[in-house]
Amino acid sequence: MKEFPLNTSLKATLSVTATALSVASAVSFSSFAQASDSTLSEQLGIADHAVIAHRGDSYNAPESTLPAYQLACEVGADYLELDLQRTKDGKLIAVHDDNLKRNTNIETVYPERAGDPVNTFTWAELEKLDAGSWFNHSYPERARESFRGLKLVTLDQVREIAENCAHQPGLYIETKVPEFFPGIEQDLKQDLTEHGWLDDDAKGKVILQTFNKSSLEALQDVMPNVPKILLLWAGDGYIPTKDSAPKADDESYAQYYARQEVASKAGYAEWLDYAKEHGAIGVGPSGTQANFDDAWSSQFSYMDLAKSWMVDMSHEKGLLMHMYTLDDREDLIRYRERGVDGFFTNRPNVAVKALTDSDGKDIEATLTQLGY
Ligand code: G3P
Ligand code: CA
Repeated sequence: MKEFPLNTSLKATLSVTATALSVASAVSFSSFAQASDSTLSEQLGIADHAVIAHRGDSYNAPESTLPAYQLACEVGADYLELDLQRTKDGKLIAVHDDNLKRNTNIETVYPERAGDPVNTFTWAELEKLDAGSWFNHSYPERARESFRGLKLVTLDQVREIAENCAHQPGLYIETKVPEFFPGIEQDLKQDLTEHGWLDDDAKGKVILQTFNKSSLEALQDVMPNVPKILLLWAGDGYIPTKDSAPKADDESYAQYYARQEVASKAGYAEWLDYAKEHGAIGVGPSGTQANFDDAWSSQFSYMDLAKSWMVDMSHEKGLLMHMYTLDDREDLIRYRERGVDGFFTNRPNVAVKALTDSDGKDIEATLTQLGY
């Protein structure tokens, strides 16, 4: 279950309009065509129908670990996605949840601190955790002995994987629970700058993302020239929804989310306008998977915030749309036909096959070649 934020047919093919120019200027184009049939993505240095590996290839390997990111790289993901948090001693690391209970053995290693947030641990303490065995227990059909004892990873490790694999993916970095990490936006800038990832010739190699409006503003403040996506959610504190019955006990979260609807087009538009006014080049809405009752999918299927009118509205405002989180070919094709520009996916191999001419890679053989 998602622990939520707390805890072309119609592509964005735009002529150079005042809108597109204002977006373009936010990312410092050195040369911008006077008139262009290229997509807004291309103009921003971002792949069309970008495949964004969500916590790596987190279907075939434990999320946010070395094999997950290495595998995502090998299968040809355009971006490696990570949720950025910071240890007590200042190390930037990739962790999704606001504690480490779900995907490490912290309850065994630090039982009294198991529910504590990442920022209360030093990196040396966190390096003692096993971030792989939970996957073998949860998904025995995809378990590998080599996953046992995997470590959490740092931003630097993910960056080095991207730098050292043939496909050279970019990094798609979310400031996660940023209220726990004041100043993390500046720390991120420093790290990326030191390693050349914010150089002029790295256009489109880093995309920043957040659900948090304050963090978007902070990111814009410290990295005004780096593309940013405001992630969208609906419900309390986010896009207003129509009244609906509370979640029933026998209902999955995916079923509950699937029946949520935004209250009005105006309410949706307000979030797009906010994103644009604060420097975002696009938005990242949730989507509903067609088969959301499947045990895997039910964790990643949410409200449909990428309906056709929503995609069109985003493009009319000059905003890209990168949606989360699709793992089935059917869903990827369906949303691509609505005009969605990029996809967070736990299964980058499936997405590469669905969205390109590639036959994809043999996952088993690739993991073995990688030493797992
Ligand atoms: O970052 C896009 C998508 O990852 C948002 O959902 O909760 O998996 O970070 P979450
Ligand atoms: Ca994320």
